[in-house]
Amino acid sequence: MARETTLILFKPDAVSKNLTGTVLARFQEPGFVIRGIKMLRFDKALLDEHYSELTEFPFYPLLEEFMLSGPVIALALEGEDVIKTIRAMIGPTDSTKAPKGTIRGDFGECNRINMCHASDGPESAAVEIKRFFSEDELFDY
Ligand code: CDP
Ligand code: MG
Repeated sequence: MARETTLILFKPDAVSKNLTGTVLARFQEPGFVIRGIKMLRFDKALLDEHYSELTEFPFYPLLEEFMLSGPVIALALEGEDVIKTIRAMIGPTDSTKAPKGTIRGDFGECNRINMCHASDGPESAAVEIKRFFSEDELFDY
């Protein structure tokens, strides 16, 4: 298994419900480590870039409204097989279908308000980490 880094976003629901610590504790439990962390607000341009594959979907305006509704926390998390493992811990996109024990199953509301984004593969992880962090904001220790 490869040591890799993934990009996670705590979405506005996770931040406003004060659940970021709870979720981060789950992510650290397997031994994954923080390489970078920051709080920010999306603007429309950054969101269109981040969700460039989704902007033409009918649900995009509501997704945009949700993602711009409050700040998010971006996290670069490193560990063995972290990309797949975090996707499994978060659960499927639709929170109402996500099993209990997953982040979305325990805390998500629907297929839009679903707590976290996480990179879905090594290529997207590399692009997404660069989107939110400069070299000097990523740490090895
Ligand atoms: O986040 P994930 O990779 O599981 O799903 P996606 O298909 O890449 O969609 C990105 C995000 O768009 C989701 O996490 C939802 O917040 C939102 N979405 C939505 O609002 N309505 C849908 N029908 C599908 C996705
Ligand atoms: Mg996705």
